[in-house]
Amino acid sequence: MSLLKILHYPDPRLKKVAAPVTKFDNALRALVADMADTMYAAPGIGLAATQVDCHLRIVVIDVSEERNSLLILINAKIVRKDGLQVFEEGCLSVPGIYEKVERAEEITVEYFDLAGNAQTLTASGLLAVCIQHELDHLEGKVFVDYLSQLKQMRIKAKLLKHARADM
Ligand code: NI
Repeated sequence: MSLLKILHYPDPRLKKVAAPVTKFDNALRALVADMADTMYAAPGIGLAATQVDCHLRIVVIDVSEERNSLLILINAKIVRKDGLQVFEEGCLSVPGIYEKVERAEEITVEYFDLAGNAQTLTASGLLAVCIQHELDHLEGKVFVDYLSQLKQMRIKAKLLKHARADM
């Protein structure tokens, strides 16, 4: 088991746009295993490769109570969005901050699994929120970007102060 370092907002590397995965090989399987370990250890319900400074379109998610339903989304694309929901989101890259964000209530996503097989998933509620949140990371976007300029400035100041105190 190997834990990866999670980048913290406003690290500029969180703004990089991820590239599609082209090889479904041992290196990919090892990276996904490390990402899952890192998410479970944090603990978190989702982690995008961008957050561990790897700029490939890979996301791991587990929203189950039992923490035994790992979902691996590779090269995922949302093909349908329906309805709206507001959920108070947090992020492993924005520790200690929780804010309400509006997202689609139900989505359909097309992706590849770890074996390279094409899959389709329809999700609603928390899972839909989590998928949208994680796929944003791959576009270089964090949930803080949806908040007002004033809130964004306050969060930046708070996290930068934290970073200095930790050194
Ligand atoms: Ni996040």
